[in-house]
Amino acid sequence: MKPVKVGICGFGTVGGGTFNVLVENAAEIARRAGREIIIEQVGARRENPACDTRNTNMTADIFEVARNPEIDIVVELIGGYDVAKELVLEAIKNGKHVVTANKALIAVHGAEIFAAAKEAGVSVGYEAGVAGGIPVIKAIREGLAANKIERVAGIINGTGNFILTEMRDKGRDFNDVLAEAQALGYAEADPTFDVEGIDAAHKLTILSSIAYGIPLQFDNCFTEGISKITREDVQYAEELGYRIKHLGVSARSEKGIDLRVHPTLIPETNMIAKVDGVMNAVAVKGSAVKDTLFCGPGAGAGPTASAVVADIIDIAREIQVEALSFDSLEDLKVLPIDEIETGYYLRMEALDKAGVLATVATILSNKGISIEALIQKEPKDDEILVPIIMLIHKVQEKIMNEAIAEIEALAEINGAVTRIRVEELN
Ligand code: HSE
Repeated sequence: MKPVKVGICGFGTVGGGTFNVLVENAAEIARRAGREIIIEQVGARRENPACDTRNTNMTADIFEVARNPEIDIVVELIGGYDVAKELVLEAIKNGKHVVTANKALIAVHGAEIFAAAKEAGVSVGYEAGVAGGIPVIKAIREGLAANKIERVAGIINGTGNFILTEMRDKGRDFNDVLAEAQALGYAEADPTFDVEGIDAAHKLTILSSIAYGIPLQFDNCFTEGISKITREDVQYAEELGYRIKHLGVSARSEKGIDLRVHPTLIPETNMIAKVDGVMNAVAVKGSAVKDTLFCGPGAGAGPTASAVVADIIDIAREIQVEALSFDSLEDLKVLPIDEIETGYYLRMEALDKAGVLATVATILSNKGISIEALIQKEPKDDEILVPIIMLIHKVQEKIMNEAIAEIEALAEINGAVTRIRVEELN
């Protein structure tokens, strides 16, 4: 059978990883694909010291790769929105299949790209865009195709999980751990995408679209990052039997679809609570299968390359990689964050005087909000402010916000109330 020729655009962590996996596992890959897969050209402005390119046709012009008549599959690994979109559309126009690890591109411009690919009769694979090495897109689209998916939730940013784990286990400083995640090639070019939840929101947007058959709608995803999580919150959560994880949560109910990314307290007994470091975990609940959990490395050269190359092999096997997993999309309402219902962890600083706790409890009970657990710390010798930590039973976010505003307005409460959402995931 004729070999399949691949052009790689972008030669950073993932580009280099993909190059090396294709070279090192060439024989095994050819046996799986039923034909050889050859790197025909690499488009990049600089070499990757981890790769031996002595026998490779290199070009500084990525668009040369998109137009190269020898190439069957263009692998877009440059990242970002604009140039990547132009490159992918140019490749499609030239009749190339496309494989990408670019979740930002798919979450924001996926509809346009898939329409162009359908018209040109080519595939667009993006397994590597979500949860690194975990084949969760294939799992939902193929393995769980019989199910009505009810919930998809999990840790879908490796950098964020690495930071939270190192802060908790080693008491390390946020910025110090972030710098290490960058050095290890986990973080996005702009690491605020990781720590502010934008990267996870891109991934959740894609997962929700393939899980529920809804249009890609990144703008409707509620996004909150981890940069305000303190070591105290991590410790108090543990005292209450919880771990703080940065989760993407989407669920389908009669009211609509939850689509949100935020730091979340989850019970320490839940398996996701034990997923640490750069590992990701995605829990998918289907109507027939019930609870499933997919776990693996969420970032880094090897794991991401593993997913990129799997898509290349599918295309080489002449398996049509579908755009989204549904033939027609349903416009289900995504719930505004005010309308979601969840539990809450609250932390506030109160004047150490009689009656403050009772006043706070009255505000909550007047709104029908019920307290599940409470910790009030002893003041240290010279302090007049004491931390109060509460776990709140499930309530609508809008009502929780109203109560928080009333609590913050009390003269006895110092500053803002810290609020972290709680998910039991049961
Ligand atoms: N920056 C991303 C992460 C890379 O840390 O998860 C993988 O998508």
